[in-house]
Amino acid sequence: YKVPVPKNEPVNSYAPGTPERASLQAKLKELRSQEVDVPMYIGAEEVRTGKTHPLNPPHDHQHKLGQFHEGDASHVDQAIKAALAAKQEWADLHWQQRAAVFLKAADLIAGPYRDKINAATMLGQSKNAYQAEIDSACELADFLRFNVKYMTEIYEEQPYSPDGIWNRMEYRPLEGFVFALTPFNFTAIAGNLPSSAALMGNTVVWKPAYSQIYSANVVMEIFREAGVPDGVINLIYVDGPTVGKKVFTHPDFAGIHFTGSTAVFQTIWKTIGENIETYKSYPRIVGETGGKDFILAHKTADAKQVATAITRGAFEYQGQKCSAASRVYVANNIWDDVKKNLLADIKDIKMGGPEDFDNFFNAVIDRKAFDKIKGYIDHAKESNVAEVIAGGECDDSKGYFIQPTVIVTKDPQYVTMQEEIFGPVVTIYVYEAENFDETLTLVDETSPYALTGAIFSNDRYIIEKATKRLSQAAGNFYVNDKPTGAVVNQNPFGGARKSGTNDKAGSKLNLLRWCSARMVKETF
Ligand code: NAD
Ligand code: ALA
Repeated sequence: YKVPVPKNEPVNSYAPGTPERASLQAKLKELRSQEVDVPMYIGAEEVRTGKTHPLNPPHDHQHKLGQFHEGDASHVDQAIKAALAAKQEWADLHWQQRAAVFLKAADLIAGPYRDKINAATMLGQSKNAYQAEIDSACELADFLRFNVKYMTEIYEEQPYSPDGIWNRMEYRPLEGFVFALTPFNFTAIAGNLPSSAALMGNTVVWKPAYSQIYSANVVMEIFREAGVPDGVINLIYVDGPTVGKKVFTHPDFAGIHFTGSTAVFQTIWKTIGENIETYKSYPRIVGETGGKDFILAHKTADAKQVATAITRGAFEYQGQKCSAASRVYVANNIWDDVKKNLLADIKDIKMGGPEDFDNFFNAVIDRKAFDKIKGYIDHAKESNVAEVIAGGECDDSKGYFIQPTVIVTKDPQYVTMQEEIFGPVVTIYVYEAENFDETLTLVDETSPYALTGAIFSNDRYIIEKATKRLSQAAGNFYVNDKPTGAVVNQNPFGGARKSGTNDKAGSKLNLLRWCSARMVKETF
């Protein structure tokens, strides 16, 4: 029999007057009025250590949503032990039964848990309703459903067998346990990293970013209700270096599914290299990392379209998407028009907590991010090659609020054109329209990243030229569209160079990393 063929989960608008909006607002109110006590989940245990930390909304840092229990090195040991103990039974379960568990999780997310997972993402990570909906409801449900489709395709792919011979491939899980290390910015990524490996028969130790624990706890609640057996996914809150020390020196460490910053990934890769003699098998290293994503506007581009792409690409979720447009190259003949439209768009942006649905713009994730982003803005304010033409105000009195900020620079190598800021700051370089070829080189060579990028033009020769010339500059390349908002099964996602191993989340390529095939030849 076949497992159900998935469709992308339809996106709710939460428009004024809709029942979805009323229901989500009620859930937000309910969650805000209670305090949750969040344990770690190790094997069959809910572990409460008593070493608690508060969970606060980034847009209202004095409000307490609850607390989580932090573990130490001994909890990492326990989680690895639990994962290894659960391994055989889970791996032996028919793959369609494993699939059913995650298909049920997707239905729970799309149905009865939709408000809860969205509200948790809105409050815990400061996302507006639409950004939460496309992340924690739709994208996570899509990952869970489409991964089953990819798994089916993988398992069905079998080698040729001549008469009298039966050749077959067994797509075994990796030997050992998988470590999922997840970032704060997408609940969907946090849920996908452990579940994609588990779907393929692996058992997992999952450590989320501390600033995502509030919604990670809801993801775990859903996994448990869907029937993920004890020990298959173990969720721990232990600081990164402590977890790393235990995981990367364990002989049964079979692979890491990572999304986060380039610096952390490079540290991890080096540590794995140093311990390579320790492991039974070479670990799978899958990492999606940072970006310095670009928009390149040719002289034939539609100025209004470019301005909208900058506003949405740079400022949705306060610029905290790995895919966010953060360096923009605009031809000088269209700049005045782009600028006029961009400033008009930004003027209309309302900033505040996501509980008020009129606020397109919310807070950045925490104090560390606030200070880092503000540092770049202050640098631009004082620079003689850069000018802040919009935004630039930062206020951390109630929440970590930073205005959508536009910097224009005369220097295409200015620091904010090169480094990942991961906040609501976009830098624009206006180039001579006739210097398009030189600008292509700048786009390609200014930053070490290669995650997303976009070309805007109405000239087919230029579109073709830019697409070819920038073939290594972005793993996801968009023509006349913003460089954010990849949809599972439509736009497989990931970048190369310093942006990751490019194993394309939301595609079969990613699932292939979580199995180790055995070929069996039988002669009749
Ligand atoms: P981060 O690198 O700070 O943290 C990622 C995870 O690693 C967290 O769980 C963190 O606690 C852990 N960690 C941190 N230091 C560690 C250490 N020394 N050892 C072991 N673990 C450690 O990233 P973040 O701030 O949560 O997320 C933002 C980053 O993620 C940005 O750079 C962004 O571009 C990137 N990102 C990339 C993609 C992609 O698909 N390419 C998607 C989302 C986010
Ligand atoms: N998948 C997310 C996007 O494309 C990161 O914006």
